[in-house]
Amino acid sequence: PRPVYFTRHGESIFNIHGLIGGDSSLSPKGEKFADLLSLFIHNEPELPPDQLNVWTSTMKRARATAAKIKCARYVEWRSLREIEVGVCDGLSYDQIRDNFPQEYKAREMDKLRYRYPRGESYMDIISRLESVIFELERQQAPVVIVAHQAVLRCLYAYFLDLPPEEVPYLAIPLHTVIKVTPKAYGCAEKRYKMMV
Ligand code: F6P
Repeated sequence: PRPVYFTRHGESIFNIHGLIGGDSSLSPKGEKFADLLSLFIHNEPELPPDQLNVWTSTMKRARATAAKIKCARYVEWRSLREIEVGVCDGLSYDQIRDNFPQEYKAREMDKLRYRYPRGESYMDIISRLESVIFELERQQAPVVIVAHQAVLRCLYAYFLDLPPEEVPYLAIPLHTVIKVTPKAYGCAEKRYKMMV
C-alpha cells in the first residue's frame, strides 16, 4: 500500500517567539527547511513528481514550505489549518496563563475537549479532518501533507490508531518528515529529521 508523508511547516516567526495562532511567515530556518524538504521529496523513489499530490493548509507558512516541491497536483485545504485559538490568538502560553488563568487551567485539565473561546478544540479538529481522511483513503497516487502541529497530531493518531486521549500530547516536531505506510495490521512509521 502507498505511504503518506506528513510534515509541519518550517519554523515560523511566531514559532521563534513562542506565540500561537496568527498567520506568520517562515523564518530563515523555516525557508531552509522548505529547500531541504523539496530535495528530500525529489530523492524519494516513492514520490515521483508526475504522480505526486501535495496538500497544504491555506496558511502562509504551510504554503511557503511546500512551494518548491514539484508535483502533479497541489491542493490547499481549509480543513488542514492549525487549531483556531480564538481570543488567545497572538499570545504566548505565559500570557494566556496570566491573562486567562481559568482558560489555561481548563485546557490543562482536558486538553482534548477544551475549546478556546471563539476557537476550536482537538475534538473539533478531529471532526473537520474527516473530509481530508476520506480523500486520503481513496487516493491512488502518493500524498505529501504540509500542515501544523495540532492537525498532524490528529492525522497521525488516525493512521496509528491511537486513542483520542493521547492525541494532544503526541510529538510532531518541526523539520521532521513522518512517513506512514499502511500494513495488513496497523502502519509502519519512519521519521526523517532535517538539519536546518
Ligand atoms: O505553537 C505552534 C502551534 O502550532 C500553535 O499554532 C498551536 O496553537 C499549537 O502549536 C498547538 O499545540 P498545543 O495544542 O500543544 O498548544
